[in-house]
Amino acid sequence: MERSQIDAVIEKITSTEHPGEGSERVKEIVNRLTRDLFYAIEDLDIQPEEIWKAVDWLTNTGKANEWGLVAAGIGLEHFLDLRMDEAEAKAGITGGTPRTIEGPLYVAGSPESVGYAELETVPEEGAERLYMQGQVLDEDGKPVPGAKVEVWHCNLRGMYSIFDSSQPPYNLRRAIITDENGRYRFKSFLPVGYSCPPGGNTDQLLKALGRHGSRPAHIHFFVTAPGLRKLTTQINIEGDPLIWDDFAFATRPELVPHITRYTREEAKEQFGIEEPFASIDFDFEMHHEAEGVFDTDIERTRGLR
Ligand SMILES: [Fe+2]
Repeated sequence: MERSQIDAVIEKITSTEHPGEGSERVKEIVNRLTRDLFYAIEDLDIQPEEIWKAVDWLTNTGKANEWGLVAAGIGLEHFLDLRMDEAEAKAGITGGTPRTIEGPLYVAGSPESVGYAELETVPEEGAERLYMQGQVLDEDGKPVPGAKVEVWHCNLRGMYSIFDSSQPPYNLRRAIITDENGRYRFKSFLPVGYSCPPGGNTDQLLKALGRHGSRPAHIHFFVTAPGLRKLTTQINIEGDPLIWDDFAFATRPELVPHITRYTREEAKEQFGIEEPFASIDFDFEMHHEAEGVFDTDIERTRGLR
């Protein structure tokens, strides 16, 4: 079919819309996507069986609650980050700690404490101890007391509490309120990388694309404070072989802090800590709210649905 014939089909479809009814924005988006889909079907000669196979896949992906993973895996979530970066840059908001994807595994309501938190509700056997600490700063380098640093990461099996019922709820999820000097600190362990559920819908898609569905080890953060733009970010665990091969494209050079390791003796002598540990220093540099820029507090459904 010619483009003009496809346009005529779209015209026939949209002519059934009742003016003034429904949402103009939804009409605009759906009609554009439909047109682009029809063009793609024509250009790539997509066959009916391929369409119905895709419909099955879409259905199964929803049933398995994997759309959050697919959004990460096809680079959609990263693309949204890049567009937000661009919009901020146009508004003169540059520098600071870069954002990166939230992913689908945040849950609100983590236990809250001031200055310091221990992330393990139950001790993780065989893990490498981690202390991570730093300050929340505004763009002028001023410490931000009372900021909320929400942190979440997976266990050594690559699983997140709430989504993994074998862990206590909120294991490895905490909210730390920065102290009077804008400082936070937490005790946990170095998490591991993980993969999309093997054989699942995201995995099937990525395999068909000749890709893998694995992420390097990372720790997620939301940082919020009154008058500052919410920061959604992660840090990567230095040395992970997949750092630059993340299926979700979340790695950014500024988000790979150096890990300093202390032996048992050093830990005891220098810090009075009774075990060897890895230490990460990381400051979160935030931006003030500005007029006329999008809100970084993105509304989306979170947790188990
Ligand atoms: Fe994650």
